[in-house]
Amino acid sequence: MLRIGHLQLDLPVVQAALSGYSDGPMRLVGRRHGVPYALQEPVLDRLVIQSGKLHRKILTLDAEDHPVGGQLMGADPGRLAEAASVMAASGFDVIDINFACPVRKVLRRGEGCALMSDPSRAAEIVRAEAIPGSENLLRLEVDLGERRTVVAGIARRYRPEDLLGKQVVIVANLKPAKLMGIRSEGMVLVAGDDEEMTLIMPEQKLKPGSPVH
Ligand SMILES: Cc1cc2nc3c(=O)[nH]c(=O)nc-3n(C[C@H](O)[C@H](O)[C@H](O)COP(=O)(O)O)c2cc1C
Repeated sequence: MLRIGHLQLDLPVVQAALSGYSDGPMRLVGRRHGVPYALQEPVLDRLVIQSGKLHRKILTLDAEDHPVGGQLMGADPGRLAEAASVMAASGFDVIDINFACPVRKVLRRGEGCALMSDPSRAAEIVRAEAIPGSENLLRLEVDLGERRTVVAGIARRYRPEDLLGKQVVIVANLKPAKLMGIRSEGMVLVAGDDEEMTLIMPEQKLKPGSPVH
Protein backbone atom coordinates (compact mmCIF):
# COMPACT_ATOMS: atom_id res chain seq x y z
CA MET A 1 0.00 0.00 0.00
CA LEU A 2 1.14 3.55 -0.72
CA ARG A 3 0.10 6.41 1.53
CA ILE A 4 0.18 10.08 0.52
CA GLY A 5 -1.29 12.14 3.36
CA HIS A 6 -4.91 11.05 3.73
CA LEU A 7 -4.80 8.92 0.54
CA GLN A 8 -4.29 5.18 0.69
CA LEU A 9 -3.48 3.59 -2.64
CA ASP A 10 -3.66 -0.17 -3.01
CA LEU A 11 -1.24 -0.38 -5.88
CA PRO A 12 2.24 1.09 -5.54
CA VAL A 13 2.10 1.91 -9.27
CA VAL A 14 1.13 5.43 -10.18
CA GLN A 15 1.06 7.66 -13.24
CA ALA A 16 4.10 9.94 -12.81
CA ALA A 17 4.17 13.62 -13.66
CA LEU A 18 5.56 13.87 -17.20
CA SER A 19 6.16 17.36 -18.50
CA GLY A 20 4.29 17.85 -21.79
CA TYR A 21 2.54 14.46 -21.53
CA SER A 22 0.47 13.72 -18.41
CA ASP A 23 -2.51 15.90 -19.36
CA GLY A 24 -6.20 15.00 -18.85
CA PRO A 25 -6.58 12.67 -21.88
CA MET A 26 -3.39 10.76 -21.01
CA ARG A 27 -4.50 10.34 -17.40
CA LEU A 28 -7.93 9.04 -18.47
CA VAL A 29 -6.28 6.39 -20.66
CA GLY A 30 -4.21 5.41 -17.60
CA ARG A 31 -7.32 5.27 -15.38
CA ARG A 32 -8.93 2.83 -17.83
CA HIS A 33 -5.90 0.59 -17.32
CA GLY A 34 -6.26 0.71 -13.54
CA VAL A 35 -4.03 3.66 -12.54
CA PRO A 36 -5.03 4.43 -8.93
CA TYR A 37 -3.29 7.83 -8.70
CA ALA A 38 -2.07 10.20 -11.39
CA LEU A 39 -0.18 13.47 -11.49
CA GLN A 40 -0.88 16.32 -13.85
CA GLU A 41 2.00 17.65 -15.94
CA PRO A 42 3.75 20.51 -14.09
CA VAL A 43 2.19 23.96 -14.37
CA LEU A 44 3.63 27.38 -13.59
CA ASP A 45 2.16 28.86 -10.42
CA ARG A 46 1.47 32.17 -12.19
CA LEU A 47 -0.68 30.43 -14.84
CA VAL A 48 -2.80 28.89 -12.11
CA ILE A 49 -3.42 32.27 -10.51
CA GLN A 50 -4.12 34.23 -13.72
CA SER A 51 -7.60 33.79 -15.10
CA GLY A 52 -8.01 32.86 -18.77
CA LYS A 53 -8.28 29.94 -21.18
CA LEU A 54 -5.13 28.21 -19.97
CA HIS A 55 -6.18 28.60 -16.36
CA ARG A 56 -9.50 26.82 -17.10
CA LYS A 57 -7.70 24.04 -19.00
CA ILE A 58 -5.32 23.45 -16.09
CA LEU A 59 -8.05 23.38 -13.48
CA THR A 60 -10.74 21.36 -15.25
CA LEU A 61 -10.74 17.77 -14.00
CA ASP A 62 -12.80 14.82 -15.22
CA ALA A 63 -14.93 13.07 -12.56
CA GLU A 64 -13.09 9.78 -13.31
CA ASP A 65 -9.71 11.43 -12.79
CA HIS A 66 -9.33 11.05 -8.99
CA PRO A 67 -7.32 10.94 -6.86
CA VAL A 68 -5.15 13.32 -8.83
CA GLY A 69 -2.13 15.43 -7.92
CA GLY A 70 -1.32 18.84 -9.36
CA GLN A 71 2.35 19.64 -9.76
CA LEU A 72 3.39 23.26 -9.37
CA MET A 73 6.49 24.91 -10.70
CA GLY A 74 7.57 28.12 -9.00
CA ALA A 75 10.10 29.81 -6.76
CA ASP A 76 8.13 32.35 -4.76
CA PRO A 77 6.61 30.81 -1.59
CA GLY A 78 3.68 33.27 -1.48
CA ARG A 79 2.75 32.66 -5.11
CA LEU A 80 3.16 28.90 -4.76
CA ALA A 81 0.85 28.95 -1.73
CA GLU A 82 -1.77 30.99 -3.61
CA ALA A 83 -1.62 28.64 -6.63
CA ALA A 84 -1.82 25.60 -4.32
CA SER A 85 -5.01 26.87 -2.71
CA VAL A 86 -6.57 27.58 -6.13
CA MET A 87 -5.74 24.00 -7.19
CA ALA A 88 -7.06 22.50 -3.97
CA ALA A 89 -10.31 24.47 -4.36
CA SER A 90 -10.62 23.15 -7.94
CA GLY A 91 -10.59 19.53 -6.75
CA PHE A 92 -6.95 18.42 -6.85
CA ASP A 93 -6.48 15.83 -4.11
CA VAL A 94 -2.70 16.36 -3.68
CA ILE A 95 -0.47 19.34 -4.39
CA ASP A 96 3.05 18.43 -5.44
CA ILE A 97 5.90 20.93 -5.87
CA ASN A 98 8.51 20.31 -8.55
CA PHE A 99 11.94 20.19 -6.89
CA ALA A 100 13.70 18.18 -9.59
CA CYS A 101 13.37 19.66 -13.08
CA PRO A 102 16.92 20.28 -14.40
CA VAL A 103 15.96 22.19 -17.61
CA ARG A 104 18.10 25.34 -18.06
CA LYS A 105 15.21 27.86 -18.51
CA VAL A 106 13.59 26.50 -15.32
CA LEU A 107 16.86 26.78 -13.36
CA ARG A 108 17.35 30.36 -14.60
CA ARG A 109 14.03 31.28 -12.95
CA GLY A 110 15.18 29.69 -9.67
CA GLU A 111 12.56 26.93 -10.06
CA GLY A 112 12.70 23.10 -10.24
CA CYS A 113 15.90 21.67 -8.79
CA ALA A 114 17.29 25.22 -8.27
CA LEU A 115 15.04 25.19 -5.18
CA MET A 116 17.34 22.53 -3.73
CA SER A 117 20.61 24.13 -4.77
CA ASP A 118 20.12 27.75 -3.73
CA PRO A 119 19.70 27.66 0.03
CA SER A 120 21.18 31.15 0.50
CA ARG A 121 19.20 34.29 -0.27
CA ALA A 122 19.71 38.03 -0.02
CA ALA A 123 17.43 39.49 2.65
CA GLU A 124 16.77 42.97 3.99
CA ILE A 125 16.58 43.55 7.74
CA VAL A 126 13.27 45.34 8.39
CA ARG A 127 13.31 45.09 12.20
CA ALA A 128 15.99 44.35 14.77
CA GLU A 129 15.69 44.14 18.54
CA ALA A 130 17.61 42.86 21.54
CA ILE A 131 16.33 39.73 23.26
CA PRO A 132 15.86 40.29 27.01
CA GLY A 133 18.12 37.93 28.98
CA SER A 134 20.56 37.33 26.13
CA GLU A 135 23.88 39.12 25.68
CA ASN A 136 24.56 38.00 22.18
CA LEU A 137 21.28 37.22 20.43
CA LEU A 138 19.24 39.66 18.36
CA ARG A 139 15.79 39.05 16.97
CA LEU A 140 15.73 40.11 13.33
CA GLU A 141 12.79 40.35 11.00
CA VAL A 142 13.98 39.96 7.42
CA ASP A 143 12.38 40.36 4.00
CA LEU A 144 13.46 37.70 1.53
CA GLY A 145 10.38 37.95 -0.66
CA GLU A 146 8.46 36.78 2.41
CA ARG A 147 8.90 37.95 6.01
CA ARG A 148 10.85 35.71 8.37
CA THR A 149 12.12 35.90 11.92
CA VAL A 150 15.76 35.02 12.42
CA VAL A 151 17.61 34.89 15.74
CA ALA A 152 21.25 35.84 15.20
CA GLY A 153 24.23 35.76 17.59
CA ILE A 154 25.57 39.18 16.60
CA ALA A 155 24.61 41.50 19.49
CA ARG A 156 28.20 41.87 20.76
CA ARG A 157 29.18 43.31 17.41
CA TYR A 158 26.04 45.07 16.08
CA ARG A 159 23.44 47.36 17.66
CA PRO A 160 19.85 46.77 16.47
CA GLU A 161 19.48 50.36 15.24
CA ASP A 162 22.53 50.01 12.96
CA LEU A 163 21.04 47.02 11.17
CA LEU A 164 17.79 48.46 9.83
CA GLY A 165 17.65 48.46 6.03
CA LYS A 166 20.89 46.47 5.71
CA GLN A 167 20.97 43.54 3.33
CA VAL A 168 22.42 40.29 4.58
CA VAL A 169 22.69 36.70 3.39
CA ILE A 170 20.32 34.18 4.93
CA VAL A 171 20.54 30.41 4.74
CA ALA A 172 16.84 29.94 4.12
CA ASN A 173 16.28 26.18 3.88
CA LEU A 174 17.01 25.12 7.45
CA LYS A 175 14.54 23.47 9.77
CA PRO A 176 13.23 26.22 12.10
CA ALA A 177 14.79 26.13 15.58
CA LYS A 178 13.72 27.73 18.89
CA LEU A 179 16.26 30.05 20.51
CA MET A 180 15.34 31.84 23.76
CA GLY A 181 11.75 30.77 23.05
CA ILE A 182 11.74 32.46 19.61
CA ARG A 183 11.26 30.43 16.44
CA SER A 184 14.20 31.20 14.14
CA GLU A 185 13.52 30.55 10.47
CA GLY A 186 17.00 30.82 8.98
CA MET A 187 20.60 31.68 9.71
CA VAL A 188 22.45 34.92 9.00
CA LEU A 189 25.88 34.40 7.45
CA VAL A 190 28.82 36.07 9.19
CA ALA A 191 32.56 35.78 8.76
CA GLY A 192 35.44 36.07 11.24
CA ASP A 193 35.67 35.21 14.92
CA ASP A 194 33.92 36.95 17.83
CA GLU A 195 36.20 40.02 17.87
CA GLU A 196 36.37 40.60 14.16
CA MET A 197 32.99 39.25 13.21
CA THR A 198 31.34 40.86 10.20
CA LEU A 199 28.01 40.26 8.50
CA ILE A 200 28.29 39.15 4.90
CA MET A 201 26.48 41.77 2.84
CA PRO A 202 25.88 42.14 -0.91
CA GLU A 203 28.06 44.88 -2.37
CA GLN A 204 24.99 46.44 -4.00
CA LYS A 205 21.30 46.20 -3.12
CA LEU A 206 19.55 43.16 -4.54
CA LYS A 207 15.89 42.28 -4.85
CA PRO A 208 14.99 40.60 -1.53
CA GLY A 209 15.06 36.84 -2.03
CA SER A 210 17.70 36.89 -4.78
CA PRO A 211 19.67 33.64 -4.79
CA VAL A 212 23.27 33.78 -3.53
CA HIS A 213 25.54 31.32 -5.38
C1 LIG B 1 9.66 12.92 -20.52
C2 LIG B 1 9.65 12.96 -19.02
C3 LIG B 1 9.19 14.09 -18.40
C4 LIG B 1 9.17 14.15 -16.99
N1 LIG B 1 8.66 15.27 -16.39
C5 LIG B 1 8.55 15.28 -15.04
C6 LIG B 1 7.97 16.39 -14.39
O1 LIG B 1 7.59 17.36 -15.02
N2 LIG B 1 7.84 16.35 -13.04
C7 LIG B 1 8.27 15.28 -12.30
O2 LIG B 1 8.12 15.28 -11.06
N3 LIG B 1 8.85 14.23 -12.88
C8 LIG B 1 9.00 14.21 -14.24
N4 LIG B 1 9.57 13.14 -14.84
C9 LIG B 1 10.05 12.03 -13.98
C10 LIG B 1 8.93 11.01 -13.82
O3 LIG B 1 7.86 11.57 -13.08
C11 LIG B 1 9.41 9.76 -13.07
O4 LIG B 1 9.81 10.11 -11.77
C12 LIG B 1 10.57 9.09 -13.73
O5 LIG B 1 10.24 8.84 -15.08
C13 LIG B 1 10.95 7.80 -12.99
O6 LIG B 1 9.88 6.90 -12.99
P1 LIG B 1 10.04 5.44 -13.63
O7 LIG B 1 11.09 4.78 -12.81
O8 LIG B 1 8.70 4.83 -13.48
O9 LIG B 1 10.43 5.68 -15.07
C14 LIG B 1 9.65 13.06 -16.22
C15 LIG B 1 10.11 11.91 -16.87
C16 LIG B 1 10.13 11.86 -18.24
C17 LIG B 1 10.64 10.61 -18.91
